[in-house]
Amino acid sequence: MNSTIALFSSARQNGNTDKLLQQINTQWPMEVIDLESLTISTYNYENKYQTDDFYALIDKILQCENIVFVSPVYWSAVTPLMKNFIDRLCELLDEPNLKHKAKQLKAKQAFVITTSASLEVSSTFANFFKELFRYFGMKFSGLLHIYCREGYDGENNDAQINEFLAKISGERNSFSKGSRKNV
Ligand SMILES: Cc1cc2nc3c(=O)[nH]c(=O)nc-3n(C[C@H](O)[C@H](O)[C@H](O)COP(=O)(O)O)c2cc1C
Repeated sequence: MNSTIALFSSARQNGNTDKLLQQINTQWPMEVIDLESLTISTYNYENKYQTDDFYALIDKILQCENIVFVSPVYWSAVTPLMKNFIDRLCELLDEPNLKHKAKQLKAKQAFVITTSASLEVSSTFANFFKELFRYFGMKFSGLLHIYCREGYDGENNDAQINEFLAKISGERNSFSKGSRKNV
């Protein structure tokens, strides 16, 4: 198992976060899932849902070694669609027939890729992922934040991206071909 899945969400296509992900994807091949292309019901305590794409997405994630969460910082948080997906992960912890899937997340390497208008990534944003990965026992293997107050400037970000990729090269295994598709 040597593959990477990126869960992408942004309020715009081809925006700063999308451009960053595309640039990274040329060097770190990964399958990109745009959460906007999926239907994922909001979490409820009864865990009663209309048929949606959540279980297929989880199964796809569990086939991968590296999970990359890709979201801009919006009000120190992830996008609503990313949060919706993450909330839904509670179902894996709640439901006896799904708990084995929550356990399988423990073997995963988790990464975060983000952009914002601040020089440093919001500590609230970073801590949210720290807590999430701790809760599921995933290894927080790297976070890349790119400053984008003036928009996304690919060339100027090369050095920071290369430094990040070099730093995590021992953590990630990425022999799958990069692509963008739905589950
Ligand atoms: C709704 C909204 C909230 C934002 N909140 C923050 C914030 O809390 N901190 C920050 O540094 N930048 C914030 N920004 C700026 C974005 O993080 C930044 O422009 C980012 O690169 C946008 O990525 P995108 O093009 O993928 O949407 C916000 C932007 C929007 C649209």
